[in-house]
Amino acid sequence: MRQTIVAGNWKMNASKEAVNTLVMGILSGMADVKSKVIICAPSPYLSQAEALTTHSQLHVGAQDLNVNASGAFTGEVSADMIKDFGVEYVIVGHSERRSLYGETNEIVAQKVQVALDNDLTPLFCIGETLAERESGNMESVVSRQIQVVIDLVGIDAFKNIIVAYEPVWAIGTGVTATPQQAQDAHAFIRSMLAENNTDVAQATPILYGGSMNPVNAEELIGCEDIDGGLIGGASLKSDDFLHICKAG
Ligand code: PGA
Repeated sequence: MRQTIVAGNWKMNASKEAVNTLVMGILSGMADVKSKVIICAPSPYLSQAEALTTHSQLHVGAQDLNVNASGAFTGEVSADMIKDFGVEYVIVGHSERRSLYGETNEIVAQKVQVALDNDLTPLFCIGETLAERESGNMESVVSRQIQVVIDLVGIDAFKNIIVAYEPVWAIGTGVTATPQQAQDAHAFIRSMLAENNTDVAQATPILYGGSMNPVNAEELIGCEDIDGGLIGGASLKSDDFLHICKAG
């Protein structure tokens, strides 16, 4: 039985005051949450998030990392740096990183490897654009995204990877994949993992992301192969986020 995981991706939205209000709000409603809950804060707020969540059920994640350990990489953040702040998880390969910052499948695979090498659990994001879906290429795009990672880190490494299926057309658009569309994609992803190792495929959490909200969360997370959510917009309001956390 896979545990439900709900992760909030705050993206570039935060202030000291907002982080305080949001985290305190989430903590106040965690008593009856059974899901594993992760909050992925922007780097400058990881320290604050760590301090607010010590000895709580909330886990802290970062939103990206650089593949290098240190050096002349202005503006970048290394695995060691985020670990210094108690971070256990890191989003890797989010579609915004792929489309806005040119991250290729190969770069994303390297980031997955660096995260694993540093005992960080990657939230490895995959998903097709609208054009790719409409031209019937969802499966080929998603399988390529996964295959490059399998080729680099091996299928066994998926024991320590959380996959997030996020159709690009559903991210931040208010257009959610229907439960059937999402379930079909998740089942496809799991079958692809199973071609390499059935036990690993059964154990790997596959989260759905893309306009998940308090209204649609329960039905989506109720699907057989959907093990939780990666939440953007709805993770910025503690009531909405808690509602989703309780859907699992
Ligand atoms: P959204 O974002 O929930 O705002 O669609 C999801 C994500 O980008 O991870």
